[in-house]
Amino acid sequence: MPSRRTFLAAAAATALTAIALPPRPAAAGGYRLTPRPASWPVIGAPQPPTSIWAYDGLLPGPLLRVRQGERLIVQVTNGLPDGTPTTVHWHGIRLPNAMDGVPGLTQAPIRPGESFTYDFTCPDAGTFWYHPHLGSPEQLGRGLYGALIVDEPEPPPVDRDLLWVLGDMRLDRQAQIAADFRNPMDLSHAGRLGNTFLVNGRLAESFPLRAGERIRLRLLNTANARVFSLRLEGHRPYLIAWDGHPVQQPVRLAADEAILLGPGMRADLILDATGEPGARYRVLDSDPRGSTYRLLDLHYDPAAALRRDSLPPPASLRPNPVAEPDLPSAERLPLVLSGGAMGAAAALEVDGHAMSLRDAFQTHRIAWGLNGRAMTEHDDHRHQVLFALARGKSYVLAIDNQTAWPHPIHLHGHAFRVLSRNGRPAPQTPFADTVLLQAREQAEIAVVADNPGDWMLHCHIQEHQAAGMMAVVRVA
Ligand code: C2O
Ligand code: CU
Repeated sequence: MPSRRTFLAAAAATALTAIALPPRPAAAGGYRLTPRPASWPVIGAPQPPTSIWAYDGLLPGPLLRVRQGERLIVQVTNGLPDGTPTTVHWHGIRLPNAMDGVPGLTQAPIRPGESFTYDFTCPDAGTFWYHPHLGSPEQLGRGLYGALIVDEPEPPPVDRDLLWVLGDMRLDRQAQIAADFRNPMDLSHAGRLGNTFLVNGRLAESFPLRAGERIRLRLLNTANARVFSLRLEGHRPYLIAWDGHPVQQPVRLAADEAILLGPGMRADLILDATGEPGARYRVLDSDPRGSTYRLLDLHYDPAAALRRDSLPPPASLRPNPVAEPDLPSAERLPLVLSGGAMGAAAALEVDGHAMSLRDAFQTHRIAWGLNGRAMTEHDDHRHQVLFALARGKSYVLAIDNQTAWPHPIHLHGHAFRVLSRNGRPAPQTPFADTVLLQAREQAEIAVVADNPGDWMLHCHIQEHQAAGMMAVVRVA
């Protein structure tokens, strides 16, 4: 089998550099962002540049960065082609509902030529991101995404603070994006998997490291559908945060332990460069079928080590101000994921109408449901409320994935704790906004419904969301 990494891989020898940090915006002015068509050297010469859609023409979009508790003001002007409305969603930020960027639910779509100003404060420190919430399979698939970093008042001491925006693209032989968005296969199976891995917007070959340095490495999975399972050969990083939220105690990964990141998810690592000057180590990704691919090499500078002695384990980060779920009083809500190819579901309720899975797919391109119900994206003015939650109360969502596919389930406006998987208590329970359920897996998550408004609950595989796996949770 050919490497899924890309048939174009041989053409590339791009060194990866950290995204330069943009200056902080003036307190009053804020940022401007323009999603628009652009041309970008995804593969690099001799391959031609790829026609993409990107924020300010950059892949990934500009890094937005504020301090914890600071206000973020972003004026978004839609520069996309005619007939392409958009919005921006601030993934993981616990913000006021009106700033959440969900068309038909929290705001009207931003039409080409129009602007919308997002204005909110960022209560939690960590690694977050932004992306459209409209026409998502195509808009994300063409390159609309960027990172939002909220800095701790006192960030942990490191030599460098780096970000890998991970993703993939489906390119043809001319290095252009295949336009087969929402094809029946992607909608009903694994979603749109790309054939070219991207790190910070390019097919990357190597990542420069200096022996002895300590880096904070932020990983963000922006892919439409790919679940990354990353291993850093020869290294044992510490996990310090998950979906932006600190783990209680930094955990040192075992040798060769994989970091499993579904679409939308983030991990913050402290990586001590314990390799030899001049050496190369592979960063590997494995898929569920057991095939392994090289994402890139960690390439050590030949210069002598920056320091000799090994550093002490990193301290825990200060927890974010997230309310702790009260488990004894929590109400339990079952959430069944159903549908998809090779699944057991026979029927679904689509926008309130019961129908067979076959009819749902043929008529509405709907393949998945949450508690047997599905929502179509074009019916955004008729969002149905799946769960009505009482403000301030704690809930346990008992999620049962009855499908043959993995699903990263994402809740807007809140952070939850993953309590258990398949009935077994989870070893660490940092707060998170996305939980990855493997095929036929069960998980319990606990949340305090403390942010009023109508919030999306959906699978972050864009094709699953577009094919019905989304719902509205009302907190009032
Ligand atoms: Cu990152 Cu509703 O999405
Ligand atoms: Cu899914």
